[in-house]
Amino acid sequence: MHEDITRILFSEDEIAACVKRVGAQISEDYAGQKVLLVTVLKGAFVFMADLARAVKGDVEIDFMAVSSYGAEAKSSGIVRIIKDLEASVEGRHVIIVEDILDSGLTLKYLSKNLKSRHPLSVEVATLLFKEDKQEANITCKYVGFVCPDEFVVGYGLDYAERYRNLPYIGVLNPRIYL
Ligand code: IMP
Ligand code: MG
Repeated sequence: MHEDITRILFSEDEIAACVKRVGAQISEDYAGQKVLLVTVLKGAFVFMADLARAVKGDVEIDFMAVSSYGAEAKSSGIVRIIKDLEASVEGRHVIIVEDILDSGLTLKYLSKNLKSRHPLSVEVATLLFKEDKQEANITCKYVGFVCPDEFVVGYGLDYAERYRNLPYIGVLNPRIYL
């Protein structure tokens, strides 16, 4: 285990089983239909890579990058699109793939933004869901794990761009950010 991690929340094996389960759900729900997986960079890139391979059927992927204004530790809900999708979502089934839903404010903005572009549907798949923190009341059709309200890193999630490469999800020692 990395020395900055106090405990492992979800192991590599647990994550693999979880992604397989979410992928199977999506495959079933969209059987016979095309689905566009939209990843929010950068945190969700690892989840997306595994999830896309766990979905059977016709899948396309695209990427968006956003930044929240305001204090670093907390999402302000004011979101700026840094990189937009390459193609139109009009008439398509879209699933937004996220790493973690904290306040939900980022996702609320994104979901509203994508819905305004006339897709057939917009759903959300998040790997982690911080249940108690949700301010935005987002309905997530696909949830990997419910996560305690601690700062977690690994499997794509970072603190100051570090730890994204850890193969597991762990709690970051608060001494790193306090
Ligand atoms: P929200 O708008 O508060 O839901 O912000 C969600 C975003 O904040 C996620 O996509 C992550 O990039 C980041 N984030 C929230 N909680 C954590 C955490 O525990 N570890 C790493 N990043 C986090
Ligand atoms: Mg993110």
